[in-house]
Amino acid sequence: TSFEGFINASDRDYAIDRYRETAQTALQSVRDRLGKTYLPIIDDRPIQTTDYIESVNPANSTQVVGKIGLASIEQAEAAIKSAKNAFSSWKQLSARHRGDILRKAADLMEAQRDELTAWITWEVAKPIREGDAEVSEAIDFCRYYAREMERLESGVQRNLPGEDNTYIYQPRGVVVVISPWNFPLAIALGMSVAAIAAGNTVILKPAEQSSVIGAKIAEILHAAGLPPGVFAYLPAKGSTVGAHLVKHPDVHLIAFTGSQQVGCQIVAEASILRPKQKHMKRVIAEMGGKNGIIIDESADLDQAVVGVMNSTFGFAGQKCSACSRAIVLAPVYDNFLDRLVAATRSLKVGAAHHPDTKLSAVIDAAAQANIQRYIEIGKESAKLALSMPVPDGGYYVSPTIFSEVDPDSTIAQEEIFGPVLAVIKAENFDEALAIANGTNFALTGGLYSRTPSHIDRAYREFEVGNLYINRGITGALVDRHPFGGFKLSGVGSKAGGRDYLLQFLEPRSITENT
Ligand code: SER
Repeated sequence: TSFEGFINASDRDYAIDRYRETAQTALQSVRDRLGKTYLPIIDDRPIQTTDYIESVNPANSTQVVGKIGLASIEQAEAAIKSAKNAFSSWKQLSARHRGDILRKAADLMEAQRDELTAWITWEVAKPIREGDAEVSEAIDFCRYYAREMERLESGVQRNLPGEDNTYIYQPRGVVVVISPWNFPLAIALGMSVAAIAAGNTVILKPAEQSSVIGAKIAEILHAAGLPPGVFAYLPAKGSTVGAHLVKHPDVHLIAFTGSQQVGCQIVAEASILRPKQKHMKRVIAEMGGKNGIIIDESADLDQAVVGVMNSTFGFAGQKCSACSRAIVLAPVYDNFLDRLVAATRSLKVGAAHHPDTKLSAVIDAAAQANIQRYIEIGKESAKLALSMPVPDGGYYVSPTIFSEVDPDSTIAQEEIFGPVLAVIKAENFDEALAIANGTNFALTGGLYSRTPSHIDRAYREFEVGNLYINRGITGALVDRHPFGGFKLSGVGSKAGGRDYLLQFLEPRSITENT
């Protein structure tokens, strides 16, 4: 049928000279435009603020990417009012009409792909290749959710003699999106356009560290023809204005991606019925991981070394999907570890805009200090197998590998969100699975194996939302790899999957005697 065969946007092939050139041109051109001021946007109008923050390039912390006006609580109230007003007309439009606007947004992003990659590269120090893949994901979310809503809109008809039954979905209302800095375009836009496709109106509070990309999202949606009030861009302090939005009686749904601690707080706050609130709030919370890859004695180590290395150190380990534990069967442990350390030593650490950089600085000084604290903890409880020199001038942390790690120790249990790997030895496959499942998280996981019975057991017993066999564990694609975890990794929602939009909708059943 027409709903089969979603086609993902293609990443740039940087083997082609022309694309290496367009990437460099865009990096230059965006660099010339760094340092501008971005204000909150409500009803398509920028609003003046009294507080500002600076967003800087993590790899060169004196380079200001943008100055951001922070919305006040009064301005958050204005955004909610505007979103509430816009909802009454937005919800009436057909899925096709709404979807056409989102498809237009996707086309606009495709047309300015290199520039968007450049903004991501400057603002969060994401290497170009990964920034480009993120643009593809953002494009996919627009096209996929537009199409999904068209599928859902037709509802289900079940008619009997004398009785017509109609099952349909309606939007919920005002949605607050609280997004992370690690996929500043794809995740922020993905959560927003899911809500918008489904007929809700959205207030986006982006992570403070990536508020300039948030402003780019507002520009794209506006240029695509989204009516005023359907989407508000509300950079603000999470602890005050973000918290106010979560508690607000007119907010119906909070879509959050970020830390487990904040996710749990939002779930708790949203469960309290406030004066004048006439509905139960729903929370979509996608949180952390402590993702493990098992390497058994039959694994192809050429593949496993590269897969673990890329999954661990891509974007300096700052993906919720990143590998942070390698669980290696005893017969191949020494060999795997030696090869992994040697391969990782060859990675280029540097500024994200250099074409050959594999990993760059981490997001900010607080993250750098936190990761370094974990590295110190690791040195006390495990063996430091790799540490490397890193450049100055940014929030760099060395790619770090610990071996002989106790599976119950802090660095094997807590999410570090940086370029740090715990290598753990397992005596047999049972033990490896038990170690893999032995954390509070269940987001991604991997297995390198050529043993059918092990692969079969992993299908059934490896407790993660996204299991990857004989490949890396990051880079989920929309539609092909619906993404999200359970246990303390999240509420079990799957971004880019068939069930995702249902969370933004209220189902209704109508029965008519005929
Ligand atoms: N969806 C991303 C990935 O799969 C993580 O957020 O890597």
